Amino acid sequence: MASLHIIYSTSTGHTEYVVDALIDALRAKAAKLKVEKQYAEAAKPEDLLRGDVLLLASGTWNTGGTEGQLHPRMHALLKERAKDADLQKKPCALIALGDDRYYYTARAMEHLLQFVTKHGGAVADSLVIVNEPYGQEEKVAKWAEKLLAKIPTLAS
Ligand SMILES: Cc1cc2nc3c(=O)[nH]c(=O)nc-3n(C[C@H](O)[C@H](O)[C@H](O)COP(=O)(O)O)c2cc1C
Repeated sequence: MASLHIIYSTSTGHTEYVVDALIDALRAKAAKLKVEKQYAEAAKPEDLLRGDVLLLASGTWNTGGTEGQLHPRMHALLKERAKDADLQKKPCALIALGDDRYYYTARAMEHLLQFVTKHGGAVADSLVIVNEPYGQEEKVAKWAEKLLAKIPTLAS
């Protein structure tokens, strides 16, 4: 049975909403898929290696006083606790959120991409959600289908 391990962080609930919409969409197409969700603040570096596929999801925040950064709790995991992690070619899917009122809109994606490539993971696909996620469920569902097609393990 295939498994997806999701590590995410959220303050407003937006990222969690997208993650939950994704899980619903994946389960509709791949009923047997085992999905595990974990908050970034609860994750240890070794949790990045759980599951056949890793999904990282973060909004864009002004962590450390500069806009365009990862959410503070994802920052603490990826840039601090897991700074020496080796992803061992693990397939990784990425979700970033942001708001177009900010200059560095959804720039969390750049940090997620950098983390995975620098730490030996394989980027499978990425999804950017700009502004409130409510009403963007169809976009998430389409991406879920794309993800299942790109990573056949997930649908097995
Ligand atoms: C203090 C603060 C800083 C933010 N900085 C950015 C930013 O630099 N770029 C961006 O695209 N969105 C920025 N946002 C918007 C959030 O990324 C967006 O509202 C997101 O949906 C929040 O989801 P979350 O609570 O699940 O992390 C910021 C929001 C706040 C409150």
